[in-house]
Parts: sequence; C-alpha cells; structure tokens
Amino acid sequence: MIKLTIDDKEVEVREGTTVLEAAKKIGIEIPTLCYHEALTPYGACRICTVEIIRKGRSGLSTACTYPAQEGLEVKTSSKKVKKARKLILEMLLARCPNVKKIKDLAREVGIEKPRFKLDDQECILCGLCVRVCEEIVGVSAIGFVSRGTKREVTTPYKINSDICLGCGACAALCPTGAIKIEDIEDLRKIPIWHTELKRKKCRICGEFFAPEVEIDFLKKKNTQILEEFFETCPNCRRKEIGNKIVASC
Ligand code: SF4
Ligand code: FES
Repeated sequence: MIKLTIDDKEVEVREGTTVLEAAKKIGIEIPTLCYHEALTPYGACRICTVEIIRKGRSGLSTACTYPAQEGLEVKTSSKKVKKARKLILEMLLARCPNVKKIKDLAREVGIEKPRFKLDDQECILCGLCVRVCEEIVGVSAIGFVSRGTKREVTTPYKINSDICLGCGACAALCPTGAIKIEDIEDLRKIPIWHTELKRKKCRICGEFFAPEVEIDFLKKKNTQILEEFFETCPNCRRKEIGNKIVASC
C-alpha cells in the first residue's frame, strides 16, 4: 500500500491507483471531462490538473493519469491549480462557446467571455467516444485524424463507417452532447459519424428499436441467449419478465 496526502488529508491506496482515484476515496472531487472509470485514462482535457509536490519540488499534472506514490503531496485547489484550470476552461470555452457543460464550468471559475478567438465546435477532443468504441464495444469504428487545429474525431475516410453498430455508447459518454442520435421510423442516424442503419422491429409491440447490425453483433457474441431475446425491444422484455414473476407468485 502507498500513503500520500491530498489537501492535507492522508490517504492509503493500492499501487496502480491514480491521484484522481485516491482523492475520490477520501471524498475530494476533482473536475473531469475526458475521464471514465471504465476506460483507460487519456489526459486530454487537463481539467483535472492538480499540483504535485514531490521531494520539495512542485509541478502541475493531470490527476487522472498521475500514479499515486509514497509520500506525494497533492493540492487540488491551490492558487497554481486555480490559475491553470481557469486558463484551460477559457480555451475550452473559446473552442465551444455554445456548449452548456463548458459554459457552466467556465462560469464556475468566473469566465463568461474568453479572451481568445471564438470557434463554434461542439467536440472538445476528449476521446471518450473513441475509447468506449474500442475498449468496451470492441469495434473501433471511430478515431482521431490530423493534428493541431485540424485534429478531429471521425469515421475512416470520413464516409459511412461499415463497422459502426449504431449502439450509441459514444453518445452516452460524450460530455458535450456533440454526438446526436436520430431514431426515425426504421432508421437510426448518427450524422457526426455519417451513419445510417436499419432498425429491428420488436416481435411483440412492432416498434423499431436497436440497429439490426448491433443485434446481429450481440447475437454472435452471446450464442447461449435465446433468439427471442434479441427480437424483443427492451420495454417488452421488461414486461415479459414482470409477467413471468407475477405468474410464478
Ligand atoms: S465527440 Fe464527444 S466524446 Fe467524442 S471526442 Fe468529441 S467531445 Fe469527446
Ligand atoms: S479528466 Fe484528466 S485530463 Fe481530462
């Protein structure tokens, strides 16, 4: 086990724990945008910046990627940290001046209007969508392209991805709402990924629900589950299970 101090509170954690996780353990909340506990930390947004004091030397680092170490002293809201976080938020707000989440975070540190040139992006390049697609869904339908100001997240060759399942895991994790899902009759559209997929019709209520390619993917991965399960929408599945429980009482 490792002992470190965060905001003057001592905490003991296992080797391999990050500073962010250690802080959480003692109830210290550090703001995050590109972090998710189920995914590999990426250190993209830098909003979790903290001050690390080690062997008398102090520096700034991202709490979500920094490993807890014996004797480390961490400050999560020192003058240095507040100044750095303010600048990061000012830059994010300049990039995404119309994204509510960013506006709210910026307002919390007193920024209404950034000093930098305004853009009109919705994506902050946090990479959560890329990581969830690769690490949890196991598909890698999207990725980063280009560098610098041209860097973006997109599908291969910026055309309709033939491997996107339309599962929506990316949209569920996107912190800014940049990924929109449109379910219209038998189609699921994800405009940002240039994706348009046919949806499956529920065998009970006749409503369209998940994309057919997603259902086929899940079927192949879960061969022990009955075919009927995949032909049924989540609402009807819940009702069927409920009815079975009532019938067996
Ligand atoms: S689309 Fe959303 S989840 Fe993906 S990188 Fe941009 S902000 Fe992050
Ligand atoms: S949450 Fe740590 S860098 Fe984004």
